[in-house]
Amino acid sequence: MEFSTKHSTPGSAKSGCVVVGVFESRKLSVPAAALDRTAGGAISKLLQAGDMEGRAGTTLLLQRLPQLACERVLLVGLGPEKSFDAKAYRNALQAALRAVKTTGAADVEIHLTSLTAAGTRGRDIAWRMAQAACIAIESAYRFDRMKSKPETPAATLKRLVLAYARAGERRLAERGLEQGLALGHGMSLAKDLGNLPGNVCTPTYLADQAKELARRYRMKIQILDRTDMEKLGMGSLLSVARGSAEPPKLIVLEHRGGPKTQKPVVLVGKGVTFDTGGTSLKPAAEMDEMKFDMSGAGSVLGTLKAVGEMRLPINVVGIIPATENMPGSRATKPGDIFTSMSGQTVEVLNTDAEGRLILCDALTYAERFDPVAVIDIATLTGACVIALGHVVSGLFANDDGLAREVLAAGEASHDRAWHMPLHDEYQEQLKSNFADFANIGGRPAGAVTAACYLSRFTQKFKWAHLDVAGTAWKSGKEKGSTGRPVPLLTQYLIHRAGKIK
Ligand code: BES
Ligand code: MN
Ligand code: ZN
Repeated sequence: MEFSTKHSTPGSAKSGCVVVGVFESRKLSVPAAALDRTAGGAISKLLQAGDMEGRAGTTLLLQRLPQLACERVLLVGLGPEKSFDAKAYRNALQAALRAVKTTGAADVEIHLTSLTAAGTRGRDIAWRMAQAACIAIESAYRFDRMKSKPETPAATLKRLVLAYARAGERRLAERGLEQGLALGHGMSLAKDLGNLPGNVCTPTYLADQAKELARRYRMKIQILDRTDMEKLGMGSLLSVARGSAEPPKLIVLEHRGGPKTQKPVVLVGKGVTFDTGGTSLKPAAEMDEMKFDMSGAGSVLGTLKAVGEMRLPINVVGIIPATENMPGSRATKPGDIFTSMSGQTVEVLNTDAEGRLILCDALTYAERFDPVAVIDIATLTGACVIALGHVVSGLFANDDGLAREVLAAGEASHDRAWHMPLHDEYQEQLKSNFADFANIGGRPAGAVTAACYLSRFTQKFKWAHLDVAGTAWKSGKEKGSTGRPVPLLTQYLIHRAGKIK
């Protein structure tokens, strides 16, 4: 799909479909009113006749209105003007794109982007453009590469024009579009990686994808293999890889967009390309969904893609410990004890708590980059899904300033997180009679004790942990990766890049 911005009023548009909004009850938005004037009041007549109220989520397709050069007009209900906020704006865009797809229009001009109604005030033109571009990419996303032939015919929509109202907004509009496209492409990459089956998306495949990003965006890359890990003493990461025939990889991808001396943000993504549970085998039901257990890794690669595409002036390092968790004959057994790269020993009481075992060595490895902040992203615990469901990601941090920044990035990108506790008292649940500590802390507060485990490897830097077990993918009829938390992470980095020189 081709995207562009345009300073125009809708009356002059020649495109296949012009999209304008209608507030409840039957109140034309500014662009809709302009269109109505050109069409000699044809739209207001239809509204008077009761064809549309303007309720949120509704659409009405009109064909060949008098005096208009465009073939179609799509009216989109915006709900009450007073409560037209960021969410209502996003919903209107989603409804509009869904409806547009059912028409044969090849080029579409969207005027929802020029709405400055009450609730979207403060969300500037760049934000509105970015949201529109990203939602358009999301709405066009398909994953059919594993089908022998595509199920749906190729999309007819080829060109999307996003309108802004004032000529002076051009630069911001363009910047917003660029950011929205980069984010959309980053999310699509994260989704593709998540949706691919475990027999295709292996640790080696993730490493190859990272190499491709490095080539395309001129990033530095290093892939450590099993012998490198042995030399570094990554006994914890290796303890998970033992049961699998697939070679583990530690992927290190560096975007150096900032000055040489600027300390990088390090993103660490859990890359378990399939989680059977290992010797502590999971039950069979829905185990297929454990192909998504590399979603943290996917979000790191997706975010680096977005950052590379924007040429963001900031230093970012992505670290991905990638392995399968399998119950092979050499697999770790409950009670086995390993020495992590930090020197601390761990008693593995449950081999299904493997995420923390691979993350801890990656977090220790992060120390060598002298990071300004480290954020790890992991589908870490079922307990987090029980605590927070599928709406927000769990956020844990050893620094309140960092936590606030991450939360704010989640709000701004509508990819929200919720701050969870990390008090010392929880640490007691990890006590082991035989090693420095155990890898599980019992049923109470499972998401918290998992974060507690990680906190023992993050004393040397500011650290935040996102448990995305409930948000990285959807189950059921709509089963598939969501691309989260790429929006949150990208927003966090855009914000940081704007603040530092
Ligand atoms: N990848 C899972 C977490 C998970 C489970 C995410 C279900 C999404 C849905 C993780 O490796 C795991 O198995 N965690 C265990 C930890 C337990 C053994 C302490 C869990 O949550 O059951
Ligand atoms: Mn597991
Ligand atoms: Zn797992």
